[in-house]
Amino acid sequence: MSFAERIAIRSRREIEQMRDVGKMTAEILLEIRNRAEPGITTGDLDRIASKALEKRGLNSPFLGYAPGGVAPYPAVICASVNDEIVHGIPGPRELREGDIISLDFGVEHRGWHGDTAVTIAIGDVDPEAEKLMATTKASMDLGIEQMVPGNRLSDIGHAIEKRALAEGYGVVHQFVGHGIGREMHEPPQVPNYGRPGRGPRLRAGMIFAIEPMVNVGSDKARVLDDDWTAVTVDGSLSAHFEHTVLITDDGPEVLTRIPGSH
Ligand code: MF3
Ligand code: CO
Ligand code: CO
Repeated sequence: MSFAERIAIRSRREIEQMRDVGKMTAEILLEIRNRAEPGITTGDLDRIASKALEKRGLNSPFLGYAPGGVAPYPAVICASVNDEIVHGIPGPRELREGDIISLDFGVEHRGWHGDTAVTIAIGDVDPEAEKLMATTKASMDLGIEQMVPGNRLSDIGHAIEKRALAEGYGVVHQFVGHGIGREMHEPPQVPNYGRPGRGPRLRAGMIFAIEPMVNVGSDKARVLDDDWTAVTVDGSLSAHFEHTVLITDDGPEVLTRIPGSH
């Protein structure tokens, strides 16, 4: 892990833009999650998101995204079901009672970005799935709580990991949180693990996407031949939560949280 890259400090004007895009990102994710029920396909959810973007004149930072020459991402949401960890490509798969699904959604507006994800149950799910989702959400919130000026970057990942490991779960290392602003993915990388007290000091005006991915079993991920879908190597369930969060002098401000969201 290199901490050498510069971490942007946003001005008041820039923060206003990030608040705007964060709120819109949260609103549309809420619309999508409210439509997730048995019988609907992940492709249907993608079309709902696509229409919501179009209606508001917003762009998708996901569509066509192709870091390092992989196949361009073909959709505006990531829909990752059960043992899929992240980056599930929407398609004809119908959701069924008992599934859990991570819905990850991003918006670009006037050159600024929002990024947020939630894992939800489709109907009744196993108690283990409920516990996994609750633990992953709690670990994200504990990571966010560490986003106060003066703390160090690794304090975030340490708090996340501690909560998930306490349940015996696997914390994915192959994907990490990130700075966000002018680009969807900016420095620094924000791992969901690590020893506390390492890395750069956190300062007011930094904005990070905090996004733990937690597996019931092995923490190892494997990417399918579609270049995107990351699954657990042992087929165990996985959950993923994400918020775009600003560090202020008064503590963390979650830019993608509105009433009703995670
Ligand atoms: N939103 C994802 C993240 O949390 C990135 C998705 S890239 C895409 O970092 F191309 F799959 F959309
Ligand atoms: Co995301
Ligand atoms: Co992200």
